[in-house]
Amino acid sequence: MWKGRFQEETTDLMKRFGESISFDWRLYRHDIRASIAHAHGLVRAGVLTESEAAEIAEGLREIEAEISAGTFEFSVDLEDIHMNIEKALTNRIGPAGAKLHTARSRNDQVAVDMRLYCLEAVDTLSEKIQGLQRSLVDLGRRHPEAILPGYTHLQRGQPVLLAHHLLAYVEMLDRDCGRLRDARVRIDCMPLGSGALAGSTIAIDRALVAEELGFSRVSHNSMDAVSDRDFMAELLFALALLGTHLSRLSEDVILWVSAEFDFLSLSDAHTTGSSLMPQKKNPDAAELTRGKTGRLYGNLMALLTTLKGLPMTYNRDLQEDKERLFDSFDTAEICLDIYAEMMAQASVNEASMREAAADPFLLATDLADYLVQRGVPFRQAHDVIGKLTAYSLSEKKSFNDMTLEEYQRFSDAFEASVFQTLDLQTALAARQAIGAPSPLRVNEELNRWSTQLGMDQAKSS
Ligand code: ARG
Repeated sequence: MWKGRFQEETTDLMKRFGESISFDWRLYRHDIRASIAHAHGLVRAGVLTESEAAEIAEGLREIEAEISAGTFEFSVDLEDIHMNIEKALTNRIGPAGAKLHTARSRNDQVAVDMRLYCLEAVDTLSEKIQGLQRSLVDLGRRHPEAILPGYTHLQRGQPVLLAHHLLAYVEMLDRDCGRLRDARVRIDCMPLGSGALAGSTIAIDRALVAEELGFSRVSHNSMDAVSDRDFMAELLFALALLGTHLSRLSEDVILWVSAEFDFLSLSDAHTTGSSLMPQKKNPDAAELTRGKTGRLYGNLMALLTTLKGLPMTYNRDLQEDKERLFDSFDTAEICLDIYAEMMAQASVNEASMREAAADPFLLATDLADYLVQRGVPFRQAHDVIGKLTAYSLSEKKSFNDMTLEEYQRFSDAFEASVFQTLDLQTALAARQAIGAPSPLRVNEELNRWSTQLGMDQAKSS
């Protein structure tokens, strides 16, 4: 494409080092869409005739069909997707094809392609995040009464409903969708027309090109537009944090399927055995998801590092953005897919959860609250229940097995009604504030999410 000023051939090693076709072929549909819109811009600018633009569009559509069908032959000599397509077009239609690159550089071309790609990917991922949310809400709806201990420091804390625990992840995933939506606003800006860095002497109506491509805005600084990859960094951050959430969910799943917890079983279809230990059933999908979070973080760090020292404007370093971005999309996508499927087929062991939640210490805070309701200052109540706990441990007598007389040794505010406090259902039902896990509130939340996610309403109300 630039042989004019060169006398020597590019070496094979240099071609292999510099090529991006092995990964940027994925931009072919976006590149072709942008080229067709650009051709229309060139018609309005008087560079192409209507029939030349039509020839270009037709040629590009044929190339697109060939690439989709897998019959197109990519050449490493042509370095990247942009030049592969342009060369194929010129071979096919001749002179009109050779006019397409007027008032355009690969710098604004790759920028527009990546933005089109990211817009599509954001929509796909948002849909997939919602798919996982639906599968978590559905699991909660199938076990509306399952109670398990809620933990802090991985120590039993207070009782919660399983649905409440699952909805915590639905909230995290909702923020992930929100971040993708936010990022979308800044991706949605058309750089085409910025040329290599300083626009072009050939005036193209950029607004019309943007409109044809479905962008809401055009960029306002050609130098920024060809070198801006902020939108990709934002996306990679959003996906890294999504990875954090999926990794935390994985950690819960891995703990829950262990014999020590036994709260959950995964289907055989989503687990693997051991080549040595015949009894094993391992939660590999959850472990891989947790492990792949490393990639998502790494991809973000790699892009930020690539960007940090770049002088204005386009620098070839930017070619390094693609593999990181594609990898994060692919990784996030498959993790979301496997999780939606795996959670839909997981079975909850309500009995083990109930057994764990029967630990009377889970209601120690409720006992302190009981004293508070009888006028004891909370700090003092905390101390009383602390001593009661120590007594329970040393006497090997649970809260339920102590007599009122024993309770009253610690505080005279205890009355016979204290035993009602020790009921799990009462304890949960009392947690009525917005965001708390009373069955009533949790059910409201399940319904709210079901509606928001377009699922049918929960049966119970
Ligand atoms: N393959 C290049 C990339 O991905 C396209 C832009 C090349 N521009 C250039 N001036 N060499 O960034």
